[in-house]
Amino acid sequence: MDTQLKNRKIILGVTGGIAAYKSCTLCRLLIKAGADVYVCMTPAATKLVGKDTFEALTGHKVAIDIFDEAKDISHVGLAKDADLFLVAPATANTIAKIAGGFADNMLTATLLASTCPVVVAPAMNTNMYNNIATQTNLSTLVNRGIYVLTPNEGELACGIVGTGRMKEPEEIFSDVCSILSNRIAYINHHPQLGLEQEKLPAPQKPLELTQTRLLPKSLGVGLKVIITAGPTEEQIDPVRYISNNSSGKMGYALAQVAAYLGADVTLISGPTNLQTPFGVKRIDVKSAVQMLHAVESYVTQADIMIGCAAVADYRVENPSPIKIKKKDDEDSITLKLIKNPDIVATVGHRQSHRPFTVGFAAETNNFEQNAKDKLVKKNLDLIILNDVSNKSIGFNSDENEVKIFDRDGQLAHFDKQSKQVIAQLIMELIFKTVRNK
Ligand code: PMT
Repeated sequence: MDTQLKNRKIILGVTGGIAAYKSCTLCRLLIKAGADVYVCMTPAATKLVGKDTFEALTGHKVAIDIFDEAKDISHVGLAKDADLFLVAPATANTIAKIAGGFADNMLTATLLASTCPVVVAPAMNTNMYNNIATQTNLSTLVNRGIYVLTPNEGELACGIVGTGRMKEPEEIFSDVCSILSNRIAYINHHPQLGLEQEKLPAPQKPLELTQTRLLPKSLGVGLKVIITAGPTEEQIDPVRYISNNSSGKMGYALAQVAAYLGADVTLISGPTNLQTPFGVKRIDVKSAVQMLHAVESYVTQADIMIGCAAVADYRVENPSPIKIKKKDDEDSITLKLIKNPDIVATVGHRQSHRPFTVGFAAETNNFEQNAKDKLVKKNLDLIILNDVSNKSIGFNSDENEVKIFDRDGQLAHFDKQSKQVIAQLIMELIFKTVRNK
């Protein structure tokens, strides 16, 4: 794990929270793992820990005063080539400044000048943490792709017990290693918004597309993406319907990653039990016809459309307005099914305002040929093939394995791993393909 830190330039920002003393341990852990650590302190932090401690640990001058820049270290120079900017502890005040884009001290100015991944470890009193102002600021950070390490619960310096205790140095160290090794190791959610912070499992194998580098967080910026997900429900009568086992996990993971990468994401979802991914606009529908209408109302503005929903190919021609009664004298009933519109094909065949169109192929046999046929028939730019005969991947599983094809053949094969990691790989490939067009 430590190898992720070897020769990495890490800026450790220390702000004026009582947890500042723990940053010395954190600093040591990073250095022991091979990182080249530069410390930047706010003036308030120097009241809690002496800069000499950090200078002795890192062997570098500590940056504090922005007005000393001419003779010392410049904020732009410090930010240059940094692999990661870690603010630990991050006080409510500094979090607010980062959210507002302030550059009024060496730490905030350096952070504003940085282009590397930023990790923030909040530490404060529970009420300050729960305050809507802090929560809104944290959401802003998360929306910008900054990694927020949700503080622990415990006894705080003020004597009360609650959330706000900075994560332990060992935990932060491990988070930093994960972030540097797993690209998007965390998709940040905010507990106050009803979502859990989720740690994504590490990929089983080195990733094919980018092996050691973090995904550029701006990859999706400026792109509007529509994703369909989940099953559809086709009504038989008011209490019965035809549906399938799609859980929505694959489509929601794609939406989560696309939004994380800065895209404007509209998730058009059939009925699922999943929470809306952070930063995603969700439109709930039931039937295929409703899904088509929802897609059509967003499609003219979309740059990319991904059809991940398991849409019923047929619906009942005349659903009964009242509950169908069992008849003692009949052993069977007949439902006439008629074809549903093909949503992704309708988008693929648009003559104007046609987004880059991606479909999934859920196959149980004749895999590659069926997928390629769908690519052509539905006029798609890409098709993502998954084997839904294997219960450990595909419908309602936590993992997937996919092959991606365009008209020229196979573009990628992503081995079996979590749907979240598969989603990262798919979205990276789609965004890069669209940007290179
Ligand atoms: O939701 P999960 O439990 O995570 O499972 C994920 C998944 C297996 C559902 C997903 O990975 C997947 O394969 N989605 C596509 C399911 C499907 O309907 O495949 P298909 O091969 O029947 O359809 C091909 C493509 O046409 C798909 O993009 C589908 O969304 C689209 N389609 C199909 C029928 C229709 N009437 N309209 C459509 O848009």
